[in-house]
Amino acid sequence: MSETTTIESEALAAIEAATDLSALDTVRVAELGKKGRVSGLMKTLGQMSAEERQDMGPKLNALKTRVAAAVEARKTVLEDAALEADLANDVLDMTLPPRREPTGTLHPVMQVFEEIAAIFGDMGFTVAEGPDIEDDWHNFTALNFPEGHPARETHDTFFFHPQQGDKPKVLRTHTSPVQIRTMMSQKPPIRIIAPGRVYRNDWDATHTPMFHQVEGLVIEKNIHMGHLKGCLIDFVKAFFEVDSVEARFRPHFFPFTEPSAEMDVKYTKVGESIEIGEGDAWMEILGSGMVHPNVLRNCGIDPDDYQGFAFGMGVDRLAMLKYGMPDLRPYFEADAKWSRHYGFKPWLTPSVSGGLS
Ligand code: DAH
Repeated sequence: MSETTTIESEALAAIEAATDLSALDTVRVAELGKKGRVSGLMKTLGQMSAEERQDMGPKLNALKTRVAAAVEARKTVLEDAALEADLANDVLDMTLPPRREPTGTLHPVMQVFEEIAAIFGDMGFTVAEGPDIEDDWHNFTALNFPEGHPARETHDTFFFHPQQGDKPKVLRTHTSPVQIRTMMSQKPPIRIIAPGRVYRNDWDATHTPMFHQVEGLVIEKNIHMGHLKGCLIDFVKAFFEVDSVEARFRPHFFPFTEPSAEMDVKYTKVGESIEIGEGDAWMEILGSGMVHPNVLRNCGIDPDDYQGFAFGMGVDRLAMLKYGMPDLRPYFEADAKWSRHYGFKPWLTPSVSGGLS
């Protein structure tokens, strides 16, 4: 066997025997590299006679081509195999859930806050906030509760220890002080709602020492009771997702509004739950009224220029009514099974104004 034939058969055998790309490259360098055996044979052409070269030239070129082709062919085979192996290892179990199901849910009160904000947001209201720890002036005096006024007593206020000479601070008993803070810091026209926590020293089956309210305030020119009624009826329809609602505004007393009214809506009892809108009984759902001129004056607004209406509602109760949750106690038990049972999700549903339905 000539040297050429030996080299060729050895080279082809080594190429076939290479089991990965780096082994194949070692073979390629050993045969076709600058110092490789095939290259060595090519170099011998220079020392040959013209005749020999004519004979050997094409043979060696063909050898080089065959070895190079064998390397390429093997390379394709090994690359395919490597890809197959990668794919086989890199399995994705499509039956696995994309992530663990969250176990918590949005609290009904938070869901209802969002729904209320979305509904009033559509009517051009923005959201305002104030501190939970208030001073006496914002919580009472500026809201036209005179010193010693009996209405102060009805709030079962939690007082802080007084700081030297100052009136004791309080845990705000309602969200109405946010009306004052807003009127002190913004010029009319004003259209805000103020959601938040409020505190009263009251603890029984239907009262908790901390609960949630949403306050509303509109201050503009030429505002009257008709605006108040229209706005609140529209709100109740959107919130309870009904086309019509029968409502009445029953005269009441709040120091900061004159006239003041509680809003009642008709409802029907259907089994355990309640349908708001029509029926044979009235249910009180919020307090409201025209902002008292003294309150406007206390905030530097001239009641001859601007009027306004205000309202306040208890959010815990609205959530109970809307979602048919008869008991207040689980609101404070952090039991996700309970909120899941009523259909609350871990995140806000895309249409917050549409509630859970
Ligand atoms: N602050 C009242 C309360 O806690 C609720 C309320 C009634 C707010 C009438 C208002 C209003 O803004 O106009 O009982």
